[in-house]
Amino acid sequence: MLPVFVVQDLDGSRPIPSLPGVHQHGVASAVALAEEAVAAGLGGVILFGVPARKDPVGTSGWDPEGPVPAALRAMRARVGDALVLWADVCQCEYTDHGHCGPLAADGEVDNDAAVAGYVRDAVVYAEAGADLVAPSGMMDGQVAAIRHGLDQAGHERVGIVAYAAKFASGFYGPFRDAAGSALQEGDRAGHQLPPGNAREARRELAVDAAEGADALMVKPALAYLDVVAAARREQQLPVAAYHVSGEYAMVAAAHERGWLDAPTVLEESVRSIRRAGADIVLTYAALDLARRRP
Ligand code: PBG
Repeated sequence: MLPVFVVQDLDGSRPIPSLPGVHQHGVASAVALAEEAVAAGLGGVILFGVPARKDPVGTSGWDPEGPVPAALRAMRARVGDALVLWADVCQCEYTDHGHCGPLAADGEVDNDAAVAGYVRDAVVYAEAGADLVAPSGMMDGQVAAIRHGLDQAGHERVGIVAYAAKFASGFYGPFRDAAGSALQEGDRAGHQLPPGNAREARRELAVDAAEGADALMVKPALAYLDVVAAARREQQLPVAAYHVSGEYAMVAAAHERGWLDAPTVLEESVRSIRRAGADIVLTYAALDLARRRP
């Protein structure tokens, strides 16, 4: 799976400095990239939106004219069913403070208000043609609420990939530049998992499976291969692992210095993630790796 950043009102594409070889795309450019993904034999793409307008609640997340719904409609029209289309669901790209949902009086994310927003996002993305939605905010109850909301709206066949075991990680740094979701203040440690705690991660995987997820994601990937392996062993759903921005960027940066060979190291990274038990790998190297496949 290739992650794709779609910027509202952008003409063409522009490079992301902290992710060498990766670009932000306007809708037409994102569609061209989807066609390249089909030609390379990729399984699918996951879309992230960079909206023109942000507010404290993140209302642009469920704007049907927003970057993600627009790209979903245009991609579906162009590539049909040749790619599986996922839409990331979180408010952090749509709030002006960068948190994953509206803030309560104490300055923490208001869990249930955030989830209500995710449900609205998910329904709009389903309407626009997403095959699966991928809630990444790690709010309690988000999978069950989205399942219920999709079913109520007649989208019983749209699936949910739960970012079930998502750690509070330093490896997301470059993503926050790519998606314009850097926090103005605070952190995400209240809802993302502590890196040292594998048992809590395994509990989260079980909870999201019970809430009705169709696939379970572990993120980041390489520093958490034990969790990928546990997910494979203990759960019966497909397991996805997200080789995140920092994992890609550090290889690209070392390559630029001549310290290692990026294609070799990226191939090895993805093979390790597969070896640990992931059925699906999300990586910024997806296109390059697929093109090198014999
Ligand atoms: C949240 C989201 C993040 C990533 C995917 N979805 C950022 C975060 O939780 O801070 C990170 C992906 C990456 O680093 O490549 N919408």
